[in-house]
Amino acid sequence: MLKNITLYVVEDYNALSQKAALLFAQTVKTNPTGVYGLATGSTPEGMYDRLVKMSQTNEIDMTKIVAFNLDEYVSIGPDHTQSYAYYMATKLFNATGVPIQNRNIPRGDAPDPHNECAEYEKKIVNAGGIHLQVLGIGTNGHIGFNEPADTFAGQTSYAALAEETIQANSRFFDSIDDVPKFAISMGIQTIMMAETILLLASGESKAKILGEALQGPITPQVPASALQLHRNVIVIADKAAAKFL
Ligand code: F6R
Repeated sequence: MLKNITLYVVEDYNALSQKAALLFAQTVKTNPTGVYGLATGSTPEGMYDRLVKMSQTNEIDMTKIVAFNLDEYVSIGPDHTQSYAYYMATKLFNATGVPIQNRNIPRGDAPDPHNECAEYEKKIVNAGGIHLQVLGIGTNGHIGFNEPADTFAGQTSYAALAEETIQANSRFFDSIDDVPKFAISMGIQTIMMAETILLLASGESKAKILGEALQGPITPQVPASALQLHRNVIVIADKAAAKFL
């Protein structure tokens, strides 16, 4: 393992969620007005649950953080129950009191998605950049919606979802035809600008790709392999996901 990557292997998903929540909470205690990059999906849910509990018991104050989400589906608005705006509001923001004006998520229903991308990138820069970026990983190695490609995506962009991602995410929709085909996503370069990256991976389905991402060749065919070039990456994986590390 590279020395810029700190790896924690924990027993199971519960332990992963606990460790990630403690690490996140510690960072918020040190930097309560910091800029935090957040992910959606199944993996961070346990961490968000714990942060909600910690905030309800006053162990953590999230009311001054600034949040930037990695991505959002194009074509659905923030009130759609499968939008990432809805996910964040219901799973973390409302219960922890993150102020509305500090919740930054690309608008999936923006009239001009390309302009929305440029504006989102500017907003991150104007906020002073991201201190801690939480990431999950797709079974195809994507981070955000940066899918395997011939080149690494640069800044926030309008991205097509890979077939594998559409399949994987169809579990949240009534039918696979309802899964949006496009998203607005921070680019690899945007993600790499974060001071610290916290990558979470759980379950056997992530084992092979996690091994490739952290130990294989650095290639845009495995977008997460770019993390090997970042100066400060923390990986929390459960035993099942860490099988090949
Ligand atoms: C979510 C995101 C995606 C997920 C990835 C893993 O905002 O950007 O890259 O992190 O698809 O998803 P789960 O955690 O559902 O396996």
